Amino acid sequence: MSENIESVLNETRLFEPAEDFVARARIKAVDLEALHRKAESDYEGFWGDLAREEIDWHKPFTKTLDDSRAPHFGWFTDGLLNISWNCLDRHLAQRGDQAAIIFEGEPGDTRRISYRELHAEVCRFANGLKAQGVQKGDRVVIYMPMIPEAVVAMQACARIGAIHSVVFGGFSAEALRDRVNDAGAKMIVTSDGGHRGGKVVELKQAVDKAIDHGCPSIEKVVVFKRCGNDVVMRKEDVWWHDVIAGQADQCDPEWVDAEHPLFLLYTSGSTGKPKGIQHATGGYLLNAIVTNKWVFDMHDGDVFWCTADVGWITGHSYVAYGPLAIGGTEVIYEGTPTVPDAGRFWKVCQDHGVTIFYTAPTAIRALMKLGETWPEKYDLSKLRLLGTVGEPINPEAWMWYHTVIGKERCPIVDTWWQTETGAHMIAPVPGAMPTKPGSCTRPLPGIIADVVNEEGHPVGANQGGLLVIKKPWPSMLRTIWGDDDRFRKTYWGQFGGKYYLAGDSARRDEDGYFWIMGRIDDVLNVSGHRLGTMEVESALVAHPRVAEAAVVGRPHDVKGEAIVAFVICKGERPTGATAEAMLKELREWVSQEIGPIAKPDDIRFADNLPKTRSGKIMRRLLRSIARGEEITQDTSTLENEQVVLQLQGKA
Ligand code: WTA
Repeated sequence: MSENIESVLNETRLFEPAEDFVARARIKAVDLEALHRKAESDYEGFWGDLAREEIDWHKPFTKTLDDSRAPHFGWFTDGLLNISWNCLDRHLAQRGDQAAIIFEGEPGDTRRISYRELHAEVCRFANGLKAQGVQKGDRVVIYMPMIPEAVVAMQACARIGAIHSVVFGGFSAEALRDRVNDAGAKMIVTSDGGHRGGKVVELKQAVDKAIDHGCPSIEKVVVFKRCGNDVVMRKEDVWWHDVIAGQADQCDPEWVDAEHPLFLLYTSGSTGKPKGIQHATGGYLLNAIVTNKWVFDMHDGDVFWCTADVGWITGHSYVAYGPLAIGGTEVIYEGTPTVPDAGRFWKVCQDHGVTIFYTAPTAIRALMKLGETWPEKYDLSKLRLLGTVGEPINPEAWMWYHTVIGKERCPIVDTWWQTETGAHMIAPVPGAMPTKPGSCTRPLPGIIADVVNEEGHPVGANQGGLLVIKKPWPSMLRTIWGDDDRFRKTYWGQFGGKYYLAGDSARRDEDGYFWIMGRIDDVLNVSGHRLGTMEVESALVAHPRVAEAAVVGRPHDVKGEAIVAFVICKGERPTGATAEAMLKELREWVSQEIGPIAKPDDIRFADNLPKTRSGKIMRRLLRSIARGEEITQDTSTLENEQVVLQLQGKA
C-alpha cells in the first residue's frame, strides 16, 4: 500500500478540485493569479487594501508598513482597533443568533453559543478582569481545558488590551511556572479540571503546585468550574462565577494601536528555554482573516472544526480568532479522538454537520491505524474540505484522508506555517489549484517564500535548502518576549537581517510546489508538537541521579517522531532491573518537568556520551543509534568506543 502511494508521489500525480467545489469557491484560479500579481507589483498596496477591507478600524491607519526599524517591522502602525470588536460586535446586527461556537465536552455534553451570547460572556468576563485589577498591557496566563471559556478568556483579555499567554493544559506545573515567570504574569485563569482521555485532568492542582514552587508576579487565580472535582481555594483564588457575578454584558473595547501586543505564546527552540513569541494585534488579525477565507474557503453555512487546542498557535488563529473574525460557526471539542471509542471524531463531524475539518497528520495516522470501520459508521457527507497542519503528512496518510474521510470529493489543504508566522504561509487555495499528496503547495499571495543555500542564493528545482521568507508580512512575530537578542539571532541572523529564517529545510519541485523536509535545528516534532531536544535534556539532567543526557528523534509511524534519550548516570551505569526501574522513573520525571508529551519513548544508559574532540555531542551518531542503523560514521575519535556498543544495547 505504502509503496504504491510512494510511486504515485513519484509520478507527481495532481488532484484537481471537483467542479462543484470550484464553482462556489471564493478564490478561483484567475482570482489567485490576480492576487499574486497585485502582491508582486504593489506589495504595500496589496496588504494595505486588504487591511482596509477586512478589518473594522476605530481609527484608520495611514501607513501600511514601517520598515525603519528592521527586523522590527510594524504594520498599520497609526491605526487603532480592537480584535474582540472585530470578532464579535461587528457581527451582532447580522449574526446575533447564529451559532459562533458549537461545543461538545468529552463526556458528551453539548452547548450552542450564539454570537450574542458569546459577546455577552466575553464582556462580562472582561469587566470581571478589570474588577480584579487587570489592566492594559498586563500579562494573563490562561491554563484551561479545551472549552468555550478558554476562548472567552482570550477574547476578554484582548477586549481590555491585556496580553494573554495560553499555556497548553497538558504541560506540567513546572512548565507552567517557567512560562508564568518569564511573562511576569499577574493572573492565571484556569479551571478545576478538564475531561481528557476519559479522566479528569487536574489543572487547578497543577496551578497550586506552580505557585508553591514560586510565581511571585501572580496576584490572582481565576478558577472556572468545569468538572466539579475537589479543589482547594486558597487566598489568591477566586471562582470564575464570582468574577462575573453582577458584571454588565457590555464592555467598551480598549482601542489599541495595531502594534499593541495581542499575545505571547511559548514555543520550543534550540536551547532549553522556550521562547515567548510575541504577536501584534492588527497584522495578526489580518492574516488570520484572509487565510480563513483563502485556504479554508469559509462561507456562510459552513461548520468549521479545527481540532487543535488553544494551547497551540493553531488554536489561536483557527479557533479563538480567525473563524470568529469572519463570522463563522465553529465546533470546539474538549477531549481526545478515541473516547469512548475510535469513532469519536467522525461522530462529532456527523452530529454537528461539520463541513470543513482541520487536524494534524499524527491524528490522521492514529485513526488510520484503527481502521476504516470507524469512519464508515458515520455520515460524513457534509464534509467538503479537509486540512492538515503541524508536520509533513506522509502520502499514505494523505491518501487515506482523501479516500476514506473525504470520499475523493474534498480537497486537502496541507498548511505550512509556524507559531512565529501567525497564520498559514504556504498552503493550497483549494478552488484555485491542484494538490499533491505530501506537498503544502505554493506560498499564499503576499508571502514571498524561497528555498536558498547557506549563502542565501536560491537553489534549483528539487534541491534541498533553507526555507526563508524574503519580505515581512503582517502576522509575523514582533519579538521574543524579554529576549530581543535571541529574536534577532534566531530568525534574522543568518542572512544579515534580510530574510526570515524559518528553521525548516525544504525543496521546491518543477511546478513550484514546496515540500517541507524537516527542521534544521534541534527541534523535534512529536505528534505535531514542537519540543526542543535541549528542553528534554535539561529536564533529564535536573534529576539528581543524572549527570548528562542527549536527546534525539527517531521516526515513528504515528507520532512522526519518537524521543530517544541517552543518559549518563552519576555513579554506576544502571543495567538490567535497575535500568528498567530508572527508565520508568525518568519517564515519569520528564512528564512532571515538562508534560506527558515530552516523555522519552526510549532511554539508553552508558558510561559516556560520544563526543568529538572539541567536546560536541555527536548527534548524528546518536540518531543512527536511535534508529538502529548500522554505524558508518568514523568513531575512531571517540574516547571510548565501547560507549557505542553500550548505547546500542550490545554491551
Ligand atoms: C512544522 C504549527 C510540514 C514545521 C502551525 C514548522 C509543518 C513547525 C507543517 C511549526 C506542514 C507545520 N508541513 N511541516 N504543513 N506545518 N510544520 O510552531 O517544522 O507548532 O517549522 O506551528 O511545524 O510548529 P508550530
